[in-house]
Amino acid sequence: MSKPVRKAVFPAGGLGTRFLPATKVIPKEMLALVDKPILQYGVEEAIASGIEHIIIVTGRGKGAMEDHFDISYELDATLERKGKKELLELSRKISSMARISYIRQKEPLGLGHAVLCAKDLVGDEPFAVLLPDDVIDANPPCIKQMIDVYQERGGSVLATMTIEGPGISAYGVLDGKQDASNPRIYNCAGMVEKPKFEEAPSKQAIIGRYVLTPRVFELLEKTTPGAGGEIQLTDGILALLKHEKVFGYTFEGKRYDAGDKFGMLQATVEFALKRPEFAEKFKEYLKGLSL
Ligand code: G1P
Repeated sequence: MSKPVRKAVFPAGGLGTRFLPATKVIPKEMLALVDKPILQYGVEEAIASGIEHIIIVTGRGKGAMEDHFDISYELDATLERKGKKELLELSRKISSMARISYIRQKEPLGLGHAVLCAKDLVGDEPFAVLLPDDVIDANPPCIKQMIDVYQERGGSVLATMTIEGPGISAYGVLDGKQDASNPRIYNCAGMVEKPKFEEAPSKQAIIGRYVLTPRVFELLEKTTPGAGGEIQLTDGILALLKHEKVFGYTFEGKRYDAGDKFGMLQATVEFALKRPEFAEKFKEYLKGLSL
């Protein structure tokens, strides 16, 4: 029986250059999708999947994330005095949502380096990694689906989805065969970070959800800079593959790249259309646009 997955690492030290100018001062993880920072969607997904301890890897100028999950005395006191019960409940819920630890990534050396920063907080147990940019609408939550695969198979699990065409070059790409008993599972044989389109080993792009065994830390320690001159998580997992089984998993659900302007627009429209309090009004508004 595999150890339970109790901890989740959120790499959030990046500069968010894809979303400038909004991210000049505001951490990209704090950009609102409808009315909630994208980081909170990921944290809620982790909690709904049974995660008990959230580890956020932060960087310079990213203090707003810590403030968001703290108690806000002034706000709470004002809401209480004004009798705004529902909003008070909403604010308090965020600060009591989870046990959260923060660790600073002193230099943006890459995703693999960011995950390595969490080594001491994770310790010797399997853990989840969620990239806050990737907002995934799924039921059961994406990381829960992957924890179930990890429990069943006992090896690290990477989320994947099919990307057609040259767009695949923006991702880590999996090499492997579909499992005979479960077509959602790929038995991983290799992987490459941001390959040229002609050199991509498949159409299976790695998406920002991982369940990893702790051995990956010792391999990340030895990983040298790869694509883009950065220490890549993909390269650390490739090294892990020499010691353990690794699986790709095509999750059930829809993924949005909320760290990208167009991806955020798509997510905003689709998430807004799912909100009962204004879905109808918003639908009418969209229909009325002469496009
Ligand atoms: C990171 C990973 C990449 C993965 C992607 C998913 O890349 O390095 O393997 O496919 O997230 O969103 P980034 O988007 O940070 O360049």
